[in-house]
Amino acid sequence: MLDIKLFEMKSFLPMPYEEALAPRLKIAHEKLQNASGAGGEFTGWVHLPRDYDKEEFARIKAAAAKIQSDSKALVVIGIGGSYLGARGVIECLCSPNYNLKKKNTPNVYFVGNGLSSDAMQEVIDLLGDDDFSVNVISKSGTTTEPAVAFRFFRKLLEDKYGREGAKSRIYATTDKARGALKSLADAEGWETFVVPDEVGGRYSVLTAVGLLPIAVTGVDIDELMGGAAKMMEVCGTPSFDCPAWQYAAIRYELYRSGRSVEILGCYDPAFRFMSEWWKQLYGESEGKDGKGLFPASVEFTADLHSMGQYIQEGKRLMFETIVRLGASQNQLLVPRDESDGDGLNFLAGESMDFIRDRAMEGTLLAHTEGGVPNVIVETDGKSADDLGQLIYFFEYACGLSGYLLDVNPFDQPGVEAYKKNMFALLGKPGYEDRKAALEAKLNK
Ligand code: PA5
Repeated sequence: MLDIKLFEMKSFLPMPYEEALAPRLKIAHEKLQNASGAGGEFTGWVHLPRDYDKEEFARIKAAAAKIQSDSKALVVIGIGGSYLGARGVIECLCSPNYNLKKKNTPNVYFVGNGLSSDAMQEVIDLLGDDDFSVNVISKSGTTTEPAVAFRFFRKLLEDKYGREGAKSRIYATTDKARGALKSLADAEGWETFVVPDEVGGRYSVLTAVGLLPIAVTGVDIDELMGGAAKMMEVCGTPSFDCPAWQYAAIRYELYRSGRSVEILGCYDPAFRFMSEWWKQLYGESEGKDGKGLFPASVEFTADLHSMGQYIQEGKRLMFETIVRLGASQNQLLVPRDESDGDGLNFLAGESMDFIRDRAMEGTLLAHTEGGVPNVIVETDGKSADDLGQLIYFFEYACGLSGYLLDVNPFDQPGVEAYKKNMFALLGKPGYEDRKAALEAKLNK
């Protein structure tokens, strides 16, 4: 099971702090369990690993099997919470090089997560003449980036297969009743999956939002949900036996003691998009009302040769949370070289994991010595079950953390500001006054 370890924390914080925080954590826990806190209407993810829609889950598996049988590629269109979780899980469990691998499952391309013409054209080129399907994901059904991308890929599908043929290759994951995407899907007869009302975007990876693209790659989504269900059980107990309590408490105490940045690190490059998912989860949930830790991420050991300098000796702003994913699936051993010209024979016969683990220990000691507290999150390995546990753990700890900070962990009012400006500058009807004011500021 997932476990939390603190390293030499007493040199950074007065101990014990748990007793003082326990009553506040208990209140936060009850708010999550009973949907009684700020944003309580968006706590559907709390019991999701038990209460998820089984009929829809079966349809997700059937759709994934159909896509596997009739498509060489799946284009996944979505942004933010409608994108990062699926990409995180796929890259972590199947590899960041998944599309380059020899396999009998479709390639997966993520688009609609930005506004780069070059990035979009590249995916169109990579698709070439291959048979493909599209999973367009938007809870609101109105987000500009995915909506624009969908226009391109829908047209591609309709040009290739005709309107009727395209119909059976478009899967829309959206609100059960509202939004432009839902209306379009109903009018066109596309298969739809639901982002439940009570689950916000960044907490939605274990709904159809994440599950359909993940299932297409062959990842066992029963195992993923099983891992999440185990962690849900653990988090159901309101005590420090729950790793989410331990994590929420330590990061809150570090924040109170003046830390303003949390760096999530992992020694597996396949974790990169899980870190992106984590950044959205914590950044959007906590960063409001002038409060919140700034979530950053690093990939070790690569970033020890770049950001490592700042972490060791720069402004003392941060603490690190290091995710340790257990033993690698492949155990490569360092070869012996008779001439030993590089002087590395002292490592001959050792595994890469052995070297990595010593790097991990050396870094832990160095960074702690340099004044950076370290929290370690350990999983047994890197299976779908482990990732299910990790996802639920981070979500639950995030909900607890938001309530400890006294913010609503389930809204994101700040995301609207850029959208309003962008709509005005694009000339969207209804934004005329703002357009003039903004253009004056830009001296257009
Ligand atoms: O967490 C969130 O709510 C956001 O990141 C959304 O997921 C993101 O803005 C995409 O929204 P939508 O799914 O409505 O297109």
